[in-house]
Amino acid sequence: MADDTTDTKSSNQMWGGRFASGPDAIMEEINASIGFDKKLFAQDIRGSIAHATMLAHQGIISADDKDKIVHGLNTILSEIESGNFEFSRQLEDIHMNVEARLATLIGPAAGRLHTARSRNDQVALDFRLWVKEELEKTEQMLTGLIAAFLDRAEEHAESVMPGFTHLQTAQPVTFGHHCMAYVEMFGRDRARVRHAIEHLDESPIGAAALAGTGYPIDRHMTAKALGFREPTRNSIDTVSDRDFAIEFLSIAAIAGMHLSRLAEEIVIWSTPQFGFVRLSDAFSTGSSIMPQKKNPDAAELVRAKTGRINGSLVALLTIMKGLPLAYSKDMQEDKEQVFDAAESLELAIAAMTGMVRDMTVNTARMKAAAGSGYSTATDLADWLVREAGLPFRDAHHVTGRAVALAESKGCDLAELPLSDLQAIHPDITDKVYDVLTVEASVASRKSFGGTAPSEVRRQIAFWRARN
Ligand code: ARG
Repeated sequence: MADDTTDTKSSNQMWGGRFASGPDAIMEEINASIGFDKKLFAQDIRGSIAHATMLAHQGIISADDKDKIVHGLNTILSEIESGNFEFSRQLEDIHMNVEARLATLIGPAAGRLHTARSRNDQVALDFRLWVKEELEKTEQMLTGLIAAFLDRAEEHAESVMPGFTHLQTAQPVTFGHHCMAYVEMFGRDRARVRHAIEHLDESPIGAAALAGTGYPIDRHMTAKALGFREPTRNSIDTVSDRDFAIEFLSIAAIAGMHLSRLAEEIVIWSTPQFGFVRLSDAFSTGSSIMPQKKNPDAAELVRAKTGRINGSLVALLTIMKGLPLAYSKDMQEDKEQVFDAAESLELAIAAMTGMVRDMTVNTARMKAAAGSGYSTATDLADWLVREAGLPFRDAHHVTGRAVALAESKGCDLAELPLSDLQAIHPDITDKVYDVLTVEASVASRKSFGGTAPSEVRRQIAFWRARN
C-alpha cells in the first residue's frame, strides 16, 4: 500500500469543477487524511455496498448500476487487502480514493454511488463501524483479563498477604481477594464498553451533508444491513457528533488508569524488597550492565501508555469543544487519536493478561509480610470489644499500647507474653492468641465482600457465572 505523495498541480478529480488549479502542496498536506483513514477501507466499502443496494431497492439507481458498483467495490476490497491498491494523497481520503478507483474500474456507473449521501455521513458511518468493532474487541479482551484474574484468585483464595492503605501495612487480606478487586475494576470497564456499544448503535448514513435528502431513501434498510439497531434521528447531530469516539476514549482512559495501577503494583511487588511475585522471562528484560536485574519493562510501559491514552482523550475533547454545528474539517483529526489509543489499550490489556497468568506468586514472602507491621492490631481491638466488652474506642487505645510495647521490644503482637498483655488490660486471656495470627484475622472477615476465603470464593462464583 504505497502512499502517493507527489505534488501534482492537477485539478482534483472529485470536485475539480469549481477549482481552476489543484491544491497547493501545503494545502494538500494539511488536508489529506488518507495516511491514516485508509484504516477505514473495509468499513467504507461495506457502507457503500449497503448504500448502493438500498438506492437500487428504492429505484433511485438501476439494478444494473448497483451490480456494477457492488462488483467494483468488492474488487477494490481485495485489491486493498492484498496490498495491490495505490493510495493517492491528491484524492485526500479513503472515501475519494475508493470512489476514484471505482470509476476507473466500472466507468460512469461509479458516479451514481454518491447519490443521496455526503462524505459527512459517510465518514460518520465508517468511523462508527470501526469504533463499534474496536469496542467489541475490547469487550472480549477484558473478558480474557478477568478470566486470568479469576483463575489466580481461585488458586490464591487462601494465600495471605498484607493489605495496604497509604502503602503502609494495614490488615491481612488474601491475594485472591486482591485479585478480585481487579475483577471488579475491569468488570466495570467492560460494562462501560457494553453501554457504549448500545449508545453508538445507530446508523448515520442517509443524514447526507447535514439536512437529510430529497431522494426517497430507506435509512432503516441501511441501518439493518449494517447491523445497527436503528437510524440516527437528527441529521444535523448525526454529522457533527463524535460522542461515540469520545466515549471510547473515556472508557480507554479509565481502563488505562486501572491497568496502570495494576502495573504499578506489579512493579512494586516484583522488587527484591517486596518479592511478592516473580515475572516470567517473557514479560521482563535484563539489564545491559547489571547482571542481577530483571526489569518489569512490560508493566512500566503499560503504566506509560496511560499518558498517551489520556492525551488522546483530551485532544479530541479539545478538538470538538468549540465547533459550531454541523460538520467542520476539524473533525478529521478525530481518527488518529482513537486509532492510537485503541492500539495502546489493546497492547496494555494483552500484556497485563499475559503477566497476570505467567507471574509466580511467592506465598511465603506474602505471608511473612502479612504478619509484620502489626497487621492484626485491629483484630486485637475487635477481640477486646467482643470478648472483654470494651467500647471500640477504649479497645483501640489498649491495642495502641500493646503495639507500642511490641515495637519497643522489637517483636510481633503474637510474640508478646500474656503477662505483658495483661499488664496493659487485665481481661485479656490466652484466647487472644487465636485472633493474632494472619490466617485467623483473614478467616474472621466474613462480611459480604470481605477477605475471608469463603467470601472470596463466593465472589469468584458470582463472576464466573458472568464471564
Ligand atoms: N476526510 C474527512 C474526515 O475525516 C471526510 C469528510 C469530509 N467532508 C467534507 N465536507 N470535507 O472528516
